Amino acid sequence: MAWLLSGRGIHDSKAMVEGLKSYGVISSSKVAEVMWSIDRALFVPEGSSAYDDSPMSIGYNATISAPHMHATCLQLLEKNLQPDMHALDVGSGTGYLTACFALMVGPKGRAVGVEHIPELVSSSIENIQKSAVAPLLKEGSLSVHVGDGRLGWPEFAPYDAIHVGAAAPEIPQSLIDQLKPGGRMVIPVGNIYQDLKVVDKNMDGSVSIHTETAVRYVPLTSREAQLRGL
Ligand SMILES: C[S@@+](CC[C@H](N)C(=O)[O-])C[C@H]1O[C@@H](n2cnc3c(N)ncnc32)[C@H](O)[C@@H]1O
Repeated sequence: MAWLLSGRGIHDSKAMVEGLKSYGVISSSKVAEVMWSIDRALFVPEGSSAYDDSPMSIGYNATISAPHMHATCLQLLEKNLQPDMHALDVGSGTGYLTACFALMVGPKGRAVGVEHIPELVSSSIENIQKSAVAPLLKEGSLSVHVGDGRLGWPEFAPYDAIHVGAAAPEIPQSLIDQLKPGGRMVIPVGNIYQDLKVVDKNMDGSVSIHTETAVRYVPLTSREAQLRGL
């Protein structure tokens, strides 16, 4: 999908959301409300154009994804981000999407971020502390952990929703295992050419997979390979 709002002088999250609605990216009122409430400016490097519809470098060969990708993934997962549900954000980076998940599942749910760059985990916690979901972090229904996200985060499994924010060569079995029957995972799959795959776990434990759209993400890889830029 093309980046939609660049250079159009968007100065707040409400205008960003209105832009995404006008282009037909956001159709869900819940997702609109969540993306207004979690201010992207708190999650991007200082001085950058927070509301432009483009990915931005956050250091360590990582990026914050573009708003239209965040909106797309939130909409694909909306039914699995209801109050009290469990959500896992693999490759949580800035913490933006983990914060959105936490707002949706609420204080009796669980929103878990896993990121393998410790410095990004620390800065994402600082970002979240400035945001509308700071109380959920304090109370413990929202947490961010240093780890290899290809292994998921078994402590709070099974998950109703899993989002993977980096492209895997193939879908990690651990993530399928940690998905609840009735759960849904959204994951970019591929190397140079990638597809955003939607994985639904059926009630009998089998999975149904479909391709949503072509995408371009940084790789889901080892910390060493990422830092070497491989
Ligand atoms: C495109 S960024 C997306 C970040 C996040 N969704 C956001 O918008 O801020 C992908 C993230 O995945 C992380 N990552 C890559 N491989 C990983 C792995 N094996 N385990 C955990 N995190 C990983 C990267 O460090 C990076 O922060």
